Amino acid sequence: MDAPLARFVRRYMKPWAAWYVLGLLALIATNAISVAIPVQLAHGIDALAHGAGGQGAVLQAALTVGVMGVVVIGVRTASRVLFFTPGRHVEAAVKRDLFDTTLRHQPSFLHRYETGDLFSRIGNDVNMLRLLAGFGVLQIANTVIALGFAVAQMTALDPTLTLWLALPLAIALGVVQLIIQRMFELMRRLQVEQAELSSWILSTYRGVATVQGFAAEEAFTKRFAERNDAALSTMLEQSWMRAILGPSLAFAADVDVFLVLLIGGPRVIAGDMTIGELVAFTTLVGFVTNPIRSSSFLLSIVRQAQAALERVDEVLYTPIDRPELARDDAGLPAPTAPPALAVRGLTITYPDSEHAALHDVSFDLPAGATLGVFGLTGSGKTTLLRVLSRLVDPPAGTVHLDGVDLRDLDLDDWRSRATLVAQRPFLFSESLAHNILMDDPEAAATSFSADHAARLGQVLDLCQLTPDLQAMPDGTDTRVGEAGVRLSGGQRQRTALARGFARGGVLLLLDDVMSAVDHATEKQLLGALRSGSAVGGTRPTTVLVANRVSALQHADLVLVLEEGRVAALDRPEVLRDMPGLYRDTWIRQQGEDAA
Ligand SMILES: Nc1ncnc2c1ncn2[C@@H]1O[C@H](COP(=O)(O)OP(=O)(O)O)[C@@H](O)[C@H]1O
Ligand SMILES: [Mg+2]
Repeated sequence: MDAPLARFVRRYMKPWAAWYVLGLLALIATNAISVAIPVQLAHGIDALAHGAGGQGAVLQAALTVGVMGVVVIGVRTASRVLFFTPGRHVEAAVKRDLFDTTLRHQPSFLHRYETGDLFSRIGNDVNMLRLLAGFGVLQIANTVIALGFAVAQMTALDPTLTLWLALPLAIALGVVQLIIQRMFELMRRLQVEQAELSSWILSTYRGVATVQGFAAEEAFTKRFAERNDAALSTMLEQSWMRAILGPSLAFAADVDVFLVLLIGGPRVIAGDMTIGELVAFTTLVGFVTNPIRSSSFLLSIVRQAQAALERVDEVLYTPIDRPELARDDAGLPAPTAPPALAVRGLTITYPDSEHAALHDVSFDLPAGATLGVFGLTGSGKTTLLRVLSRLVDPPAGTVHLDGVDLRDLDLDDWRSRATLVAQRPFLFSESLAHNILMDDPEAAATSFSADHAARLGQVLDLCQLTPDLQAMPDGTDTRVGEAGVRLSGGQRQRTALARGFARGGVLLLLDDVMSAVDHATEKQLLGALRSGSAVGGTRPTTVLVANRVSALQHADLVLVLEEGRVAALDRPEVLRDMPGLYRDTWIRQQGEDAA
């Protein structure tokens, strides 16, 4: 057994060992009884051959066969339940672990995958593992046991004849093996073709306006047809292969029946064998071909499951990139009061990138103060916020909070205290209220406490969302996001800001969150931030990224970034008088605002 499979068995299937053992016993019972039925049948037929004298024996054989049949139904059902139940539980456990691990990985890991890819790992691939852990194990066990019993029974009846019958089956098995191999190749090809086709369709739908705007429907339909035809021919070949598979085995079985008659017939005539035994043999041939037929299907499940396991393991066992997890202790507790920030020589280069997004950035920010960050697009502002919230890990010794290296903090604890409001906020397909009170487990219920309602009302007011609510069908219960009411850019921004304010924290990271709000709102928000009333009391240490200089005029310190480097670092009123980007922008925006 290869290592990933062994690990899978140990982690997910072993807890169900008792079920599997009982299932195995049920399978043994099923097969033992099943192969005994033809023998009883043989007794019945032979008794029949003796004419009237055998009547009692015939009746007895018939009864025995009837009872055995009923018992087999019961035991076979039990065996299926005993194998399928662990399969379902394994599926649920793998899904839970995958989802949990996925959310713990750093964004840099997750960005390697398309969402659809992760989705299919947690869906299709895990389903494959369920098939393996349930149906697959059942089939493997059943095939081995059924073959064993049938061959043993046949050998007991007539070893030479058994040997003869093995020959056509062995040949058929070889042919089946070849067909399966080809089917597997086709399946792989089809998987790739279909994955490509679906993401192509998806991107076409996303860009449907562009397609229509260019009147490119015909070209797209033609390209679709090409891809679709390729998949079709693969599928057709697959159907052919599948069609040959059954008849090949059936032919082998027919040859066996022919051999039974050819070799067994003369023996019966010679008196070496009874007619009943001959009939029993014919039935037992079916017992051998059936497991062979299903094992061919099984083989493809095992191989698909191996591929699925590889894809699942990649997410499940890639070590989570968290420095504090590499050490024995869990990490230090995060500060509970607004911390002082000290950044020293911070350089960040994204993987697959040649240029540093931040280069040798240093600054100090006292506890509770506000740092304004200013710079053109691509100058590294967002990256700085991502580092401070530790969505990107800084190099050791470059970022300190109250003298403690950011990397040494327990990541969950830190993230629960640092609040990042992103530049392009994401709204979930949930009610507006749930989007704002997003991380509060208590607010998961359908009704909110009075406390929640008060907090919600406060941040809605503050972010000027109360007037917008009037236009929404269900007020704060209105579903927003992809599947709900589409909010405007400004509404999204204010909703995200409300989410950040409702949460509070000791470090507030605001990424250009006021670009789509008007000046009056901006002024009110800045005032609330300065007083600390935005987050309900103590003013957190704040880093405020803005493109509008007006948003930065009350910052304690402004950091001007140019291509990842510190171009200037001073109080805003000093920067206004210093030649440079900040001053130029200030003059230009003054003019715009006055106009
Ligand atoms: N995830 C990423 N992977 C690679 N490069 C990135 C990534 N995010 C940002 N960058 C690059 O880093 C630089 C700084 O980007 P960013 O911090 O977003 O700047 P800003 O927020 O000032 O516009 C840019 O050159 C950008 O292309
Ligand atoms: Mg940015």
